[in-house]
Amino acid sequence: MPRSLAGRSFLKLLDFTTDEIKYLLELSKDFKRMKRSGTPHKWLTGKNIVLLFEKTSTRTRCSFEVAGNDLGLGVTYLDPGSSQMGKKESLEDTAKVLGRMYDGIEYRGFDQQIVEDLARYAGVPVWNGLTTQFHPTQMLADVLTIEENFGRYKGLKMVFMGDARNNVANSLMVVSAKLGINFVACGPAENMPDAELVATCRRIADQNGSTITLTDNVEEGTRGANVIYTDIWVSMGEPAELWEKRIKLLSPYQVNEAVMANAAPDAIFMHCLPSFHDLETTVGREIYEKFGLKEMEVADSVFRGPQSRVFDEAENRMHTIKAVIYATLN
Ligand code: CP
Ligand code: NVA
Repeated sequence: MPRSLAGRSFLKLLDFTTDEIKYLLELSKDFKRMKRSGTPHKWLTGKNIVLLFEKTSTRTRCSFEVAGNDLGLGVTYLDPGSSQMGKKESLEDTAKVLGRMYDGIEYRGFDQQIVEDLARYAGVPVWNGLTTQFHPTQMLADVLTIEENFGRYKGLKMVFMGDARNNVANSLMVVSAKLGINFVACGPAENMPDAELVATCRRIADQNGSTITLTDNVEEGTRGANVIYTDIWVSMGEPAELWEKRIKLLSPYQVNEAVMANAAPDAIFMHCLPSFHDLETTVGREIYEKFGLKEMEVADSVFRGPQSRVFDEAENRMHTIKAVIYATLN
């Protein structure tokens, strides 16, 4: 197992070996233990990182800030719209400037090519805090949560329900292939992941003894599953006009009591969050007024129920992001 990923960027899990991902998970567990026991770990004092957000965030931003503070780092947050990047300054120039001042750069935004280009020009590690195609830091938190729950992850069956071609679904398919988890994308044919990515993941899964299955059949897809996972039906950066179409297409894939009953008796429910499971958000209320839906990708009873692990996942974002920062900057 590697002892360091010093100097590496964290752009997508396809760039990392199974052993490197396992190393990050082990490091995350160490950091979680230290945090819980109050053991100081300001091991990167004197270094600085910048968080470049072109989309909004609660968990990812807070995880990078808290993890950075715990490690002794200086942290600068640039919110959507407050940097010059793309408007008055090219991506290349921005990357070169930030690379002169900071030891690491987090980017959340649009096309995967942007974060890849930032890494190419910055000369310091760049971390992907979500792009249209991938959300790799979320994956470490999710696998850690699965392992904490079952004591293992290899050989389990994880089903992603709904918009199976979004950043979270793509990344779950990749991490499953890398770690030998049996992955099922369960949704309508037009929301399935890109065929080339599926083929790549199938090759990797084959080496690790697991399978990648695509199905539009909820009954078959979720039968006996250990993990039922879903995400919002319209992702950040997609037009609001898509809601009507997605509601029609994805409503049959809502995670509700019937879905959970069809999974294994000890199955868990997971969601990267944020989630539309009640009417406590402005978007949720707008959708209710327009389309009459009180809950969307997940029923409120499942979200709040005993099988839900969503807040463990959210906490684990911080411990795992700390591991990524430390492993690449130490
Ligand atoms: N899961 C996740 O990335 O949440 P945020 O959008 O709040 O960062
Ligand atoms: N698919 C969602 C994930 C949010 C964490 C989005 O991109 O908006």
